[in-house]
Amino acid sequence: MKSLKLNLIAAACENMGIGYKGDLPWFLKNELKYFSKTTKKISDTSKKNVVIMGRKTYFGVPESKRPLPERINVVLTTKPDDYEFPSSVVVAKSLNEALEKIQSPDLDSQIENVWIVGGYSVYKEAMESPMCHRIYLTRVMAEFECDAFFPELTDSFKRIPNDPDIPDDIQEENGIKYQYQVYEKVK
Ligand SMILES: NC(=O)c1ccc[n+]([C@@H]2O[C@H](COP(=O)([O-])OP(=O)(O)OC[C@H]3O[C@@H](n4cnc5c(N)ncnc54)[C@H](OP(=O)(O)O)[C@@H]3O)[C@@H](O)[C@H]2O)c1
Repeated sequence: MKSLKLNLIAAACENMGIGYKGDLPWFLKNELKYFSKTTKKISDTSKKNVVIMGRKTYFGVPESKRPLPERINVVLTTKPDDYEFPSSVVVAKSLNEALEKIQSPDLDSQIENVWIVGGYSVYKEAMESPMCHRIYLTRVMAEFECDAFFPELTDSFKRIPNDPDIPDDIQEENGIKYQYQVYEKVK
């Protein structure tokens, strides 16, 4: 990896909810494809991206779809011995430990980008880090009952014009409108 930059990716509804009962509050197939495509995107095909997530987010992914394919999955838990993970999953007891592990000599050369994929406390710590670069935030334009939320988006993040790969018009699926947005941390 060059210098370590953290990019976040999340979908949040109008009340800034991201999850409900361990799952997503909505079903937006194309939004899930966007998540997959964005977090897999690499320019050097000999490398992979990393996805860092909390334990609840990891186990919220259907068993048949985890670990998330074609990406190095890193799961944060304070109790690694309480859970079973496939050997390909990197388990860490803190975000710092996760970042140390992925920068170790055996992994570092295999990694292109680092994606923070939730939930709340992982997003918050990453947003407060000087390594935080961008937030790829899908704005779901409706309210849903939620029990997990995206942290407050402070003035230190400014919306930037989307890159050409990201549609900036309003999307719609199952009668739910949403828009892909990109924010960058002001240094
Ligand atoms: N809409 C979206 O974009 C999006 C994205 C991600 C998740 N979600 C949804 O959000 C919900 C899950 O998010 P959540 O905020 O409730 O939980 P979460 O962050 O996924 O998981 C929380 C757990 O992760 C571990 N953890 C988190 N930060 C840690 C740290 N710094 N060091 C060590 N361990 C750490 C702890 O596990 P232990 O208790 O094992 O120590 C903690 O209890 C689900 O409903 C999921 O579907 C939505």
